[in-house]
Amino acid sequence: SEKSLKEVVGDKFLMGVALNVRQSSGADTSAVKIVKQHFNSIVAENCMKCEEIQPKEGVFHFEDADRFVQFGIDNGMTVIGHCLVWHSQLPDWFCVDEKGQNVSPEKLKQRMKTHIQTVVGRYKGKVKGWDVVNEAIVEDGSYRKSKFYEILGEEFIPLAFQYAHEADPDAELYYNDYGMDVQGRREGVVKLVRSLKEKGLRIDAVGMQGHMGMDYPDIQKFEESMLAFASAGVKVMITEWDMSALPTALRSANISDTVAFKKTLNPYPQELPDSVSQAWNKRMQQFFQLFEKHADIVTRVTAWGVTDSDSWKNDFPIRGRRDYPLLFDRNYQPKEFIQKMMDEQSDT
Ligand code: G3I
Repeated sequence: SEKSLKEVVGDKFLMGVALNVRQSSGADTSAVKIVKQHFNSIVAENCMKCEEIQPKEGVFHFEDADRFVQFGIDNGMTVIGHCLVWHSQLPDWFCVDEKGQNVSPEKLKQRMKTHIQTVVGRYKGKVKGWDVVNEAIVEDGSYRKSKFYEILGEEFIPLAFQYAHEADPDAELYYNDYGMDVQGRREGVVKLVRSLKEKGLRIDAVGMQGHMGMDYPDIQKFEESMLAFASAGVKVMITEWDMSALPTALRSANISDTVAFKKTLNPYPQELPDSVSQAWNKRMQQFFQLFEKHADIVTRVTAWGVTDSDSWKNDFPIRGRRDYPLLFDRNYQPKEFIQKMMDEQSDT
C-alpha cells in the first residue's frame, strides 16, 4: 500500500495541514490526494478569519468555511478552527463606530460575543478545537497594543475564551502565537495560561506556530518553551510549521529592501542547491524528532500548507518569490526527511 506520513506518526500526535480554499473545495486534486494520504487533521489557512467570515457587521460569509468543515467530515479528519480573535485580518468596522472612533467597551464585547458565538455555534460538534486568540503577546511578554487591548485591556482574552466555551462546551480552546521560543513571550504566555485557569476558564493547549528559518529558532529554547507551557498545565501543538530555505547568500540580504531584492529578481533558483536542501532536511528532521521526543505533551503538528507552491512564504516581500518551506515539494513529492521516515517505518 502507498506509504503514509500519518501512519508513521501513528498515535504520537495528530499530523495536520493548513488548507487553502482551492484545496478545501476539492479543486486542487493533486494537493487533496496528499492531504488524504498523509494527514489526519486540517486547519483553515484563511477562510475562517474574521475579515472572511464577517466582512461587514451582521453580514456572514460561511460558504468557504462550510466547505472546509465538510471536507474534514467527509475525510474523517480532525477539524481545527483558526482564528476567532486576531488583530490582523480584522475588518475595519469591528472596533470603531461609523465616525471611525473606538467603540465603547460594551459595544466591543457585544461584537466579540456575536462573532465568536455565531461562528463557534455553527460548527458545534464539528470543529474539535479553536485558536481562540492569536498573537496577543509580544516579545517582551507584554500585551500587543491592539484595538482589543486599547478598548478592553487584558479582559478581551478571558472574554474570548468564555464566549467560545459557552458556544461549544465540548470544543478544545487554544491560545496561538509565533516566536514562542523567545523567553519574554514564553513567560507572558505562561502567565496568561495561569490567569485563564485561575478564572476557571477552559484552555486545553498552547499553539506554537513554528514558522522557522534555517538559522532559527534555537532548538534548545524551543524545547524549553514546550516544557514551560506543559508545566503550566496545558498541551502543546505545533500549529503552523514551515521552514524557509533561504539560500545562504540571501540570508544576510536585507530582504526588507525590495529594491535590492528586486535586483536579485527571483533569488530562489528553480531547485535548491543540494547543500541547502540537505541542511534544510537535517534541521526539519531535528525538530520532528524533538516533537516525537515530547509526544506526551504534543497533541498535534500542523504544516502551514500542503506543498511549497502553496506557502505564504512565497508572498513576501515580492510575490512570485520561490521558497521551499513545506513537507511536500512543487511536484507533490515528499521532502527527503519525510520519505526517509516512511521508508524506515515500512522496513520495520
Ligand atoms: O482572497 C483574496 C483574493 O480575493 C485577492 O485577489 C488576493 C490578492 O489581494 O488576496 C486574497 O486574500 C489573501 C489571503 O491570504 C488569501 O490568499 C490576502 O491578501 C493575504 O493577506 C492572506 O495572507 C494570509 C495571511 O495569514 C494573512 O491572513 C496567508 O495566506 C496565511 O498563510 C497567513 O497565515 C498567518 C496565520 O493566519 C497566523 N500566523 C501567521 C501566518 C503567516 O502570516
